[in-house]
Amino acid sequence: MTTKTFSLGGDLTINRLGFGAMRLAMSTFDGPSRAPESGIAVLRRAVELGVNHIDTAGFYGRGAVRANELIRTALTPYRTDLVIATKVGPLLAADGVPSGQATPDQLRGLVEADLRALGLDRLDLVYLRVGGMTGPGGESIAERFEALAELRARGLIRHLGVSNVDAAQFAEARAIAPVTAVQNQRTDDDPGLLGECEEAGIAYVPYFPLGGGGRPLDTERVGKVAARLGVTAAQVRLAALLATSPAVLAIPGTGALDHLEENLAANDLGLSDEDLADLRG
Ligand SMILES: NC(=O)c1ccc[n+]([C@@H]2O[C@H](COP(=O)([O-])OP(=O)(O)OC[C@H]3O[C@@H](n4cnc5c(N)ncnc54)[C@H](OP(=O)(O)O)[C@@H]3O)[C@@H](O)[C@H]2O)c1
Repeated sequence: MTTKTFSLGGDLTINRLGFGAMRLAMSTFDGPSRAPESGIAVLRRAVELGVNHIDTAGFYGRGAVRANELIRTALTPYRTDLVIATKVGPLLAADGVPSGQATPDQLRGLVEADLRALGLDRLDLVYLRVGGMTGPGGESIAERFEALAELRARGLIRHLGVSNVDAAQFAEARAIAPVTAVQNQRTDDDPGLLGECEEAGIAYVPYFPLGGGGRPLDTERVGKVAARLGVTAAQVRLAALLATSPAVLAIPGTGALDHLEENLAANDLGLSDEDLADLRG
């Protein structure tokens, strides 16, 4: 059996199977926005089913439907064991289109905006999200990470993370302040980076754990294992992800109650060595 919990930063115990809030406002990037009531119902059910790690960002939303506001509406007063992770870095124009990277000064404003939107005095985990829509880029992140480290020293942030980084950027951040989590795209998984995280007790949180909605969930290998176990492809993908390393956290995103319940049931799905070998092919 894989361990179900992870000690984030050594002081926050979270369930490794968590929840990604990006889909609360929309299922697909070009689809319509979702009703706020459905997002609120999904969040409440997630917590009821044991989720205590929610991954969000001030830039998750479509129009007036904002993930952070849904979280505050649905879940305040917050349970004391709930960990909310946010991301700062990308700037969005009024139409929601990415318009560059925040400067250190702008990062301070973004952290304050997250605190206000979520109704918190301190954010549990803030990632510096680097780069655009492509993979890790290689530029220095020192000045921006120092700005976040300063906010942490002032007590506005408990733990820091980095997202969409390469090994050099990860090392640069770690030389400035403790890094508690790394969030890179699942397909960019770098075994070296994952190994370093594992060794240092740092969480590795792959985004798009279900393929981001753009790729079929049910490949031939996944389908074979799912059929043998009588479960769904999404459940096999999540269980396989959690089996890769005890440092890996899963944050599947959904705005649909049935998908939420299906995804969280993966917590009880143990994959055998044979299943894992079949998935590797
Ligand atoms: N750091 C970054 O740059 C970054 C980038 C992207 C995402 N993220 C984070 O990672 C989280 C996860 O990524 P994601 O939500 O984009 O992608 P994902 O979890 O890989 O997939 C979500 C997509 O799959 C669908 N889905 C969910 N459960 C399903 C199921 N059981 N069966 C069939 N379809 C299912 C969702 O649609 P429905 O909503 O209709 O279920 C949605 O379209 C986000 O919520 C966000 O917190 C971070």
